[in-house]
Amino acid sequence: MSRSSFALIGEHLAHSMSPFIHKQLFKLSGREADYRLIEIESDKLESEFDLTASQLKGFNVTIPYKQRVIPLLKGLSGDAEFYGAVNCVDVKSGIGHNTDAYGFLKALEVSGIELSGKVLVLGNGGAARTVAFEAARAGCEVTIASRSDKGGLLGKEIARRLGCEMEVLRFSDIKGGYDLVVNATPVGMYPNVSASPLEYEQLEGCRALFDLIYNPCQTKLMRYALRRGMKVGGGMPMLVWQAARSHEIWYSAEFKPADIEGIVELADAEMAAQFSGPRSIVLCGFMGCGKSSVGKALAAKLGMEFVDTDALIVEREGKAISEIFASVGEEGFRQIEHEVCVEAAALKNAVIAVGGGAMTYERNVKAFEGCTRIFLDAAFDTVKARIGADKSRPLFDEGAVKLYNSRLPLYKRASDHTVDANGGIEETLERILDLL
Ligand code: S3P
Repeated sequence: MSRSSFALIGEHLAHSMSPFIHKQLFKLSGREADYRLIEIESDKLESEFDLTASQLKGFNVTIPYKQRVIPLLKGLSGDAEFYGAVNCVDVKSGIGHNTDAYGFLKALEVSGIELSGKVLVLGNGGAARTVAFEAARAGCEVTIASRSDKGGLLGKEIARRLGCEMEVLRFSDIKGGYDLVVNATPVGMYPNVSASPLEYEQLEGCRALFDLIYNPCQTKLMRYALRRGMKVGGGMPMLVWQAARSHEIWYSAEFKPADIEGIVELADAEMAAQFSGPRSIVLCGFMGCGKSSVGKALAAKLGMEFVDTDALIVEREGKAISEIFASVGEEGFRQIEHEVCVEAAALKNAVIAVGGGAMTYERNVKAFEGCTRIFLDAAFDTVKARIGADKSRPLFDEGAVKLYNSRLPLYKRASDHTVDANGGIEETLERILDLL
C-alpha cells in the first residue's frame, strides 16, 4: 500500500501529542502513513485550506478552527452538525465529523465511570460544551460551573435544544454532592501543575471525577479525588479514543479496547518523558542585549547545551541572515525562524538564545511555553554601542529606536523574568544565576 498523508491542522501545535498517537494507531492497523502538524495562521485559514486539504487523505482540526472549517466543507456528519464543531475531516467525501464526544464517552466507559445522576461540568469552552451536551443527552441532571456569563449562555442553549433543566453556578458556590465532576477547564494543566479548579473540600460527597487534562496524566484535582476514594479518569484515553475514531472514519479501521489501552500507556510515558526533566532556558531581548554571549556563559556554567536560533537558521538555509532577508523578505525569514523555534523548544536542558524579533510573535512565545523565559533588558544606548557598525543585522537601521520601543513591552510579556543586561557578561550571568 502506498504511503498516505494525514495531519492535524490548528494554530499553535508545538506541544501536540497527536503525531505520536496517530503513528501508533497506523502501526496497529498495519498502514504506511505519516501524520504531520500543519500550523495555519488565523488570517490564512480560508485561503490555504483547499490546497492543504488536497495534499492529505484525512485530517484532524483543533482549536481555534473547529467551527471555522465548517463552511469550507462539503457536508457534516450528524455529530458535527449537533455540536456545530468539526475535529476530523475525510478528504474524499469532504465530510466533517466530530469525534470528541465519542472519545469522551469511550474514555468514561473504560474508566468504569457512569454518565448518570448529578453531573457537574467545570468550564464553558468547547470541551465543556461537548461534555455538558452529552451529559444532558444521557438524561443527567447537569450543573455548569463558570467564571463568566458564557456558562449561562451554554446552559440556556442546552436547555432550549434538549428541553431539560440546567443549573449554572459560580465556582465558589460549589459544595460537592455530585455523582460525577468533569473538569473541562485548563486549570492544572502543564506548566501550571500546582493549580486546581476546585478545593479538596468542594469534592465532598462526590463519587467520580473525569479530568479532561492529559498533561500531566495526574492533575492536582485528580489527586484530591483519589484521596477521597472517588473513581477517577484522565484525559489521555479521551484523546486516544477520539483519534482512533478518526481512523475508523478515514479507512474503516477496527481497534480492540485492549490495544487502545496500550497506546494510552505509551502516550502517557512519551508525554512524561517529553515534559519532565530540566526545563530549557530561553534568552530574549533586542539585538545586542547579550543573548548569545551571556547564553554561552550560562550554558557552560550550568553544564547545559547552548543553541542560538539565528545560528540554526543560517546552518539550515546555508545563507547569512542578511541574505535570507534579501531573498525571501522578512516574512519568509519569520516563517523559517518559527520552524526553528519549534525545533529548539523540543530540546531538553538547553540554553536557547532567540533572535531579537522571535518573541514578538505569539506563535513563538507559545512554542517556548514550557521553558523558563528571561528577558535581557539593556538600554537602547547600550545595544547601539555594542552593535556599532556591524552590518549583519538588516533591521538595525535608522528605524531601530522605534522598533526597540515597540518591542520592549512584548519582551516583558513573553518572559517569566526580566534581568538588567547593561553590564558585562559576568554581571548579567550572576543576575540570572541569582534568579534561578
Ligand atoms: C532580528 C534580530 C537578529 C536576527 C534578525 C532579526 C530582529 O537576531 O534574528 O536579524 O528582528 O530583531 P539578534 O537579536 O540575535 O541580533
